[in-house]
Amino acid sequence: MKDLSLHILDIVQNSIRAKATLIGIEIDEQPNENQLIITITDNGTGMSPEQLQSAIDPFYTSRTTRKVGLGLSLFKQNAEMTGGSFSIESVFGKGTKVTAIFELNHLDRPIMGDLVGTLLILICSSDEINYVFKHKTPSGEYELDTREIRQTLENVPISNPDVRLFLKEMLQENLEQIQISE
Ligand SMILES: Nc1ncnc2c1ncn2[C@@H]1O[C@H](COP(=O)(O)OP(=O)(O)O)[C@@H](O)[C@H]1O
Ligand SMILES: [Mg+2]
Repeated sequence: MKDLSLHILDIVQNSIRAKATLIGIEIDEQPNENQLIITITDNGTGMSPEQLQSAIDPFYTSRTTRKVGLGLSLFKQNAEMTGGSFSIESVFGKGTKVTAIFELNHLDRPIMGDLVGTLLILICSSDEINYVFKHKTPSGEYELDTREIRQTLENVPISNPDVRLFLKEMLQENLEQIQISE
């Protein structure tokens, strides 16, 4: 079973392939509702209603290098297996929004895994793509917007090793403060 952070990586890679320049990753933990909601939004190419229809078919991919696409359908399947739900909205030329709701304390819910590592890979591997990461729990809310980080950095690239270390520590500290579920 895939960790949730790996699902996030996978879904965001779809956005990157769809030429998105701004990608939102939101994790919302609601213990009172027993829900964990993961939302990925992008401003990429989007999909036509027909493409969207086939997108969640496990045997569909627009890739030419592989015959099956599994990212969306596996994410959907994992969410539904915990009694949760999955939805995808897309507007051709505008972008896409993927939402998966997991039952928070369900035994079959995949663990979050290495969220900080996943975010670092994404954030540091492109100077053209910006991310808005939000994590909400009952103990607080943390938001990181790479556009703001870039402004502070001025001419230093976000992929700089020192910047990476700084981001890593900042993410770890802030996520610890609001506590991530396992
Ligand atoms: N964010 C997105 N924007 C545009 N098209 C997308 C997006 N996510 C998925 N798709 C389309 O849905 C297809 C299936 O996605 P997925 O299940 O992740 O499999 P794969 O990435 O292996 O093709 C992709 O090939 C692509 O055509
Ligand atoms: Mg994919």
